Amino acid sequence: MARLSLVCCVFLLLSYVASGSSFDNSNPIRLVSDGLRDFEAQVIQVIGHTRHAFSFARFAHRHGKLYETVEEMKLRFGIFSENLKFIRSTNKKGLPYTLAVNYFADWTWEEFRRNRLGAAQKCSATLKGNHKLTDVVLPEKKDWRQEGIVTPVKDQGSCGSCWTFSTTGALEAAYSQAFGKNISLSEQQIVDCAGAFNNFGCNGGLPSQAFEYIKYNGGLDTEKAYPYTGKDGICKFSAENVAIKVLDSVNITLGAEDELKHAVAFVRPVSVTFEVVSGFRFYKKGVYTSNTCGNTPFDVNHAVLAVGYGVEDGVPYWILKNSWGDNWGDNGYFKMELGKNLCGIATCASYPVVA
Ligand SMILES: *[C@@H]1O[C@H](CO)[C@@H](O)[C@H](O)[C@H]1NC(C)=O
Ligand SMILES: *[C@@H]1O[C@H](CO)[C@@H](O)[C@H](O)[C@H]1NC(C)=O
Repeated sequence: MARLSLVCCVFLLLSYVASGSSFDNSNPIRLVSDGLRDFEAQVIQVIGHTRHAFSFARFAHRHGKLYETVEEMKLRFGIFSENLKFIRSTNKKGLPYTLAVNYFADWTWEEFRRNRLGAAQKCSATLKGNHKLTDVVLPEKKDWRQEGIVTPVKDQGSCGSCWTFSTTGALEAAYSQAFGKNISLSEQQIVDCAGAFNNFGCNGGLPSQAFEYIKYNGGLDTEKAYPYTGKDGICKFSAENVAIKVLDSVNITLGAEDELKHAVAFVRPVSVTFEVVSGFRFYKKGVYTSNTCGNTPFDVNHAVLAVGYGVEDGVPYWILKNSWGDNWGDNGYFKMELGKNLCGIATCASYPVVA
């Protein structure tokens, strides 16, 4: 059985989005001053002049990390040190990508997963896709951002709603392509209302099932009319605020990366899912690759938007739009190796057809 643990990892950049998290930044050790020096001094006082202490202080200061107790700070420092060692040793391996300390650096992988991963999902419908291949030779590279149809990167906050952002990203691009205008569409409507299509709000879902929901529901509201809260809520869909309708959706055949590439080359950005493994959350730039992800077929846990592809130093890659804010990764985007169905990137891909 095709099992997808569909997830959505979240970047808690904005504190108002973060307020639901159990271990973030409420009730901190209060600082007398905002200065880095004072902050460093305070951190050193707690954890001592140990290795990584200054890196930790700079990290905590930059990301507004505020720890409630001395014990909490010590605990976070220990996790940070481990992650820092991992990031530095990975960066020494001469891989085609680079990791960097980011907001997630004081979280364990387990915490990241527990706070971000959704429930298992099925993606059996893609076993037989309906995208039509043609004989036309594919361009060597493609970047839909250059055609001005890719909307700005959003931030899903503390909710496993990546699949709704993948969905709106695809629909916003389709809208711009069809009507020559930009639009921002409602993720919250999909979080709150798409349950009948095997979706689970902040606990995960699939873009293909979101397209089905929008198709049968009669449309999707704008972001403004149905704003994002980052929490499961009661459906407040209003037909009069519908900004876009889905006529149909096209699924890529499971694992057929050539179909996916063909669709991205000639049609428009495509919603994709893949398996996030622990190091990925620290991605900064370059072409991400891994030999630990995607080894369990169908085990994908994140959804993003494929907006293009290219080649860097001989390595073909996807250009993917994430929903962890534009401070994450490469301005909110990442590149991932193309050609190996890496991390299951072609496992559950689909794109919408709009009116
Ligand atoms: C839409 O937004 C994109 C990305 O922000 C931009 O490049 C493009 O020019 C905008 N298009 C219109 C028609 O406003
Ligand atoms: C595409 O996949 C979705 C679910 O993942 C399914 O409901 C839908 O029927 C599929 N579409 C086609 C045309 O097969």
